[in-house]
Amino acid sequence: MRHKTLSECFSLCATKSQYFLRNGACKYSTSLQDAKPYKSIPGLSSLPYLGPFHHFLPVVGQFGPNVNFSEMVGALHKKHGPVVKMNGLFARANMVILFEPDDIDQVYRSLEANPLRPGFDTMVYFREVLKKDTFDGVYGLTTAQGPKWRDFRTKVNPALLKLKLVRVYTSALEEIAQDFVERLKRIKEDKTYMTNKFDYELTKWSLESVALVGLGARLGCLTDELTPEHPASKLMKCAKDMMLLSFKLEFFPNPWKYFATPTFKKLMNTLDTQWNVSTLYIEMARKRIAERGHDVPEEDKSIIEKLLAIDERVAIMMANEMLLAGIDTVAFTVTSLLYHLAINPEKQEKLRQEIRSDDLHKRYLRACLKETQRIWHVIPSNLRRSDRDHVVRGYHIPPGVDVIAPNEYLSNLEKYYPRPKEFIPERWLADKTDPLYYGNAHPMVTLPFGFGIRSCIGRRIAELEIEILMKKLIDEFKVTWEGPPIKLVNKLMNSFEKPYNFRFETAK
Ligand code: HEM
Repeated sequence: MRHKTLSECFSLCATKSQYFLRNGACKYSTSLQDAKPYKSIPGLSSLPYLGPFHHFLPVVGQFGPNVNFSEMVGALHKKHGPVVKMNGLFARANMVILFEPDDIDQVYRSLEANPLRPGFDTMVYFREVLKKDTFDGVYGLTTAQGPKWRDFRTKVNPALLKLKLVRVYTSALEEIAQDFVERLKRIKEDKTYMTNKFDYELTKWSLESVALVGLGARLGCLTDELTPEHPASKLMKCAKDMMLLSFKLEFFPNPWKYFATPTFKKLMNTLDTQWNVSTLYIEMARKRIAERGHDVPEEDKSIIEKLLAIDERVAIMMANEMLLAGIDTVAFTVTSLLYHLAINPEKQEKLRQEIRSDDLHKRYLRACLKETQRIWHVIPSNLRRSDRDHVVRGYHIPPGVDVIAPNEYLSNLEKYYPRPKEFIPERWLADKTDPLYYGNAHPMVTLPFGFGIRSCIGRRIAELEIEILMKKLIDEFKVTWEGPPIKLVNKLMNSFEKPYNFRFETAK
């Protein structure tokens, strides 16, 4: 990823403000003095201490406890308009949801030099308080802010984001993809297992792949004998439990900041196990590297080996975060893509033709991936915490407010993408004269990997893993879906629920 120079950033801002003026946003005052106060922003009503909790209660609550994030956001948009406020629960910061891409742009771009993305307060507590001595000031990308984040990110960016460096893992990832295909051949006729456990099988592939890139080792997830006691199984369980427990603790009233509730204790144990198991693998990788020596070709070096040469503690923490953030995100995206191809057989056939052709660019495959990520983002919304006063549509947004960009919801609106519910990879390849042309949507609408210099650091790795696997799968199998639509659980992070009604037949 090439970072923008300062002058490029300024010219982008100038273009943006022209767009802003042309599109009538200037009818609102931009002066802080004239701005309407923060508390006048419309939104969910709030109770003392409990905030808007009552809206999420069973039966009586407007949304209920199993709220679908994008549906909730849609209801708030229709009712309250382009700026919606949600007061924080317990000690959480207040939140504002912005529905106009220009407004999101205004706030997010102002944070470009110091992108603050707080969120997992529980994980911050684990790293900075409970295990302070272990982490000793190195907190990783997911939890660090300000200079600590910037220092860490600057050290790891090249090894994880430079396309040339990431591509060296291609042949090893191809082997893993082939092992997954072979495993699928063995299990695909067992309908009960496939219906219940397809997600587990894909998660094993994604862990095996990210561990290969991160640690330079095969964990053995794709063998037929993986038991729940295997350290790799523990890592997969920890990643899932961590998201689930954090969601419960951070988005529903839970007084964990005042005393250790059972859910809180469970989360601390989960984080502890995840750290211990990942450290075990990281230590094994270090030992292998030390025994083998460093005088090896670049393509044989894992990310941890490259980072160990820069900063040992950063290397260990980055490997740990890869084993946490790089599993379910990638497995979800592959499931989503396979599902869209299964219910759109003509697109699947078109993709197969491309995969089997001599064309090395595989543009249709990339378009399929973009389209599936437009429809379902792994993380339905992005978040930044404001660090200065903003005036948005005439309202004052003070520092310290979490500004939410509901990107998945926006990416499914007709006004940005014609026929938004349809899977049309062609829109990513269409030219400017075509009404489907993706570029008609504002660049802040679809952000599956987040925004700017704090966007996903695993993006290149994820795209490489997914493209390699899809090439093998679609070449080998014709994928169909037999049954009602797949069940999407839309929360902090999207996931799917069984049954997985995929069928895989040998492709002609
Ligand atoms: C399709 C797969 C993936 C998707 C859709 C995804 C999405 C995201 C998003 C939306 C963010 C927040 C960015 C922001 O705030 O602007 C993020 C951050 C992050 N992701 Fe990913 N991710 C994926 C795969 C991965 C993988 C494979 C890894 C590990 C190699 C990874 C590691 C991280 C880390 C460490 C961060 C925090 C970055 C920072 O704050 O500097 N992700 N990801």
